[in-house]
Amino acid sequence: REIPKVPALRGKTVVTLFYEDSTRTRLSFETAAKRLSADTMSFTVGSSSVGKGESLLDTVRTIQAMGVDAMVVRHHNAGAPHRIAQWVDAAVVNAGDGRHEHPTQALLDLLTLRRRLGADALAGLRVAIVGDVRHSRVARSGVKAFAAIGADVTVVGPPTLLPESLEGWAARAATDLDDVLPEVDVVYLLRIQRERLGAALFPSLREYTTRYGLTAERASRLKPDTVVMHPGPMNRGIEIAAEVADGPASIITDQVANGVAVRMAVLWSLLGSGGPIA
Ligand code: NCD
Repeated sequence: REIPKVPALRGKTVVTLFYEDSTRTRLSFETAAKRLSADTMSFTVGSSSVGKGESLLDTVRTIQAMGVDAMVVRHHNAGAPHRIAQWVDAAVVNAGDGRHEHPTQALLDLLTLRRRLGADALAGLRVAIVGDVRHSRVARSGVKAFAAIGADVTVVGPPTLLPESLEGWAARAATDLDDVLPEVDVVYLLRIQRERLGAALFPSLREYTTRYGLTAERASRLKPDTVVMHPGPMNRGIEIAAEVADGPASIITDQVANGVAVRMAVLWSLLGSGGPIA
């Protein structure tokens, strides 16, 4: 639309409650809320009373008392949004909890694939999720979502970054990226969490790039129609070469754009349509 704003959630208030750093996810939810004409409030832990020792329960009760309709929560502890949902009447949306889940990321990834490849192409799609799968909420939600549409998922990385057991993961595992690449339709790269390097899960960044980075040379061996995805933020030159991130196979900026649409749909389904969708 020329004016990308509809009155659907006029009079509703959405608060983003972020206990962890984020640029795109928070902006994406706030943009989604604004495009639906909801009022938005933003709570960032760095500039809040949490520094004065306020508990999570007191913080969310305080926010609830101001009359909010939805809380979009990112927290470093797995399960925090679920807990909050038991405490408040407002709708609660998980925007990433610890190493557990990141559901709207998975939804926007599916929308991006559907828009790019068509709805009929999704079943049987071969997807490789590459990198720090073990610590990744994006991977955990992604595997579930890809499996739900009938895709065939392989998680790829050094053994130290793969789940200890694949029980509960609808995926197979591989440690050699070059074996997997020629067969896949989607390469989904995960961020190398440099803040974890101290834990020595792999020898060095250079070594990682050599074995698991999507370099220009590796990308040249992909099938011509294979697409490349990344949830962001990217480490250019580590898990993905700059020319691959900006190249024709990359649908990374589509992911960001579709994130707003998906989050509008989530907020609408919770606040606007008369109740949550089944
Ligand atoms: C991811 C996250 O925070 O889980 N980013 C995002 O939401 N766009 C992935 C990451 O930080 O590596």
